[in-house]
Amino acid sequence: MKKYRKVFILLLIVLIALQFYRPERNNSEVRDVASFEKETKPSSEVLTILENTCYDCHSDKTTYPWYASVSPISLWISNHVEEGNEHFNVSAWDSYDKKKKAHKLDELIEEVEEGEMPLTEYTWLHGGSLTENQKSAVIDWARKAHLTYTDK
Ligand code: HEC
Repeated sequence: MKKYRKVFILLLIVLIALQFYRPERNNSEVRDVASFEKETKPSSEVLTILENTCYDCHSDKTTYPWYASVSPISLWISNHVEEGNEHFNVSAWDSYDKKKKAHKLDELIEEVEEGEMPLTEYTWLHGGSLTENQKSAVIDWARKAHLTYTDK
């Protein structure tokens, strides 16, 4: 038992020490989604889905839950946000050319169709995955928006 106690105390110390490390937050003053929304014109239903289930990892401003301040959860979350934004950032929509915009919407349709987005870990504490109705609403919207970038 003594051996386990040592290991336990050591783990505890590591965990406490980790709390002093704070990853940088994705916290712009404003969540700049105006261009994206103006161009892709989501309905209010789709907008609510995007705001509640996508923008935390795919815009310049994340709404952090309290447990995001606790290491190592904070590291895990910041990793998701960073990687999510690297692939697709609606706040950077203006910097994408037409081809890239169309491509991102293609990817979006695919990810949502396959139930890959929002990330499963996210849905654990954010009200579950998208329902079939929500999925079709998002896919219909993305298909329509896609035409904006492929029609001449
Ligand atoms: C918890 C963070 C998180 C949430 C929430 C989230 N994503 Fe993602 N997303 C990621 C990460 C990480 C990646 C990159 C890795 C991957 O593709 O699995 C990604 C990749 C993507 C890509 C692929 C881009 C490319 O070029 O391959 C699209 C599109 C996307 N997400 C759309 C969405 C949509 C739409 C929602 C909401 C329905 C959403 N995501 C919710 C983290 C997230």
